[in-house]
Amino acid sequence: MNVAVMGYGTVGSGVVEIINTKHSYIKERTSEEDLEVKYILDLRDFPGDPNEGKFTKDFNDILNDDSVKIVAEAMGGVNPAFDFTAKCLAAGKHVVTSNKELVSTRGSELLAIAKEHNVNYMFEASVGGGIPLIRPLIFCLAGNEVQSINGILNGTTNFILTKMIYENLTFEEALKIAQDNGYAEKDPTADVEGIDACRKISILSSLASNSWIDPEKVHTEGITHITLEDVAYAGNCECVIKLISTMEKLDDGRYYIVVSPAIVSKESQLAAIDGVFNGALVSGDNVGDVVFYGQGAGKLATASAVVGDIVDCANHDANRRKIGWNEENKDLVADYREVPNRYYIRLKVEDPDLAQNEIRSSFGDIYLLARSGAFNTELAFLTSEFTENEVREKIDGLTSAKLKSFIRVARC
Ligand code: HSE
Repeated sequence: MNVAVMGYGTVGSGVVEIINTKHSYIKERTSEEDLEVKYILDLRDFPGDPNEGKFTKDFNDILNDDSVKIVAEAMGGVNPAFDFTAKCLAAGKHVVTSNKELVSTRGSELLAIAKEHNVNYMFEASVGGGIPLIRPLIFCLAGNEVQSINGILNGTTNFILTKMIYENLTFEEALKIAQDNGYAEKDPTADVEGIDACRKISILSSLASNSWIDPEKVHTEGITHITLEDVAYAGNCECVIKLISTMEKLDDGRYYIVVSPAIVSKESQLAAIDGVFNGALVSGDNVGDVVFYGQGAGKLATASAVVGDIVDCANHDANRRKIGWNEENKDLVADYREVPNRYYIRLKVEDPDLAQNEIRSSFGDIYLLARSGAFNTELAFLTSEFTENEVREKIDGLTSAKLKSFIRVARC
């Protein structure tokens, strides 16, 4: 069975490498289908590459070749990836992808085209890189209502926060190391502002709720405002700060879906997920908690998930797999500001005694935090549960203190 790979960057070249090197191993797992990479689409030249005869710059070579049954899209971005994917699906070719931006924003349209033409559109590599997450979620856990997913779904931000926590580096210093190591892009916005994690939790939430969750509806905050003071205060209450992607089914059937830095107890299974690793804690009503952990990015780890999809397509050429979701239910995502939670708050104050009195009379019970080297004009504490609307109103009403930092307490 012939395969085409669109995009010969980190992931695409990994896919070609795995198919070439694991040839007989894969054959045993594909009902004796022989997988061969016939085309590699990329506008760049790769002189001296061992796959030299397979490169094309013309997408039509792939589209018009009926012997190509499976296409791996590893181009990234929405255009032209959407157009190429739609055309391949409509031509009766299965498409697999690692492209979280495309899947989260326009996956619904592509899934509909795939269904119409009885082919597969698979995207295991789009969330958690090499971690098997999508199939376990929708197939192995099919006997459960998924009550919540809490994940560390971005390796770059987890690397930066780990450096801040354990090496006392500032955000800027840790980001520079992440860039020097090739984890963070030159323009790190998609990672550090939580956009990449938002796309991933949107995909998982769409699968868990069986309704498309538009990433635009997911409240998203990044980690750029996290300081070493916050890290130290979190440590004082046996917690760490992580960028947590949360989806939780509320009692009224709607979903709380937020990406933001969060204060995570060291007792949480997510607290020990460090460096570039990813992890997801999925809670089902029958199975309880299940944790997935592994490499969320990287050439061969991500390509491993793409090749898994290719093998699945080869094994389900005639009977397509049911992976996907229904149309958007516009009322499904709850207003995050109306859902009760606990918060970490750091304030600058003029008169510590006066400020503490005002804070206690407004917030009721608080848990005061300490850190070495803090001036007495700084106050940090954890609140009890309030909706975010309530807590913001309380902060705005303070006359003796100015907000310096506000971080949600994780729900896991
Ligand atoms: N930039 C992403 C990360 C790569 O750091 O996790 C995988 O999506």
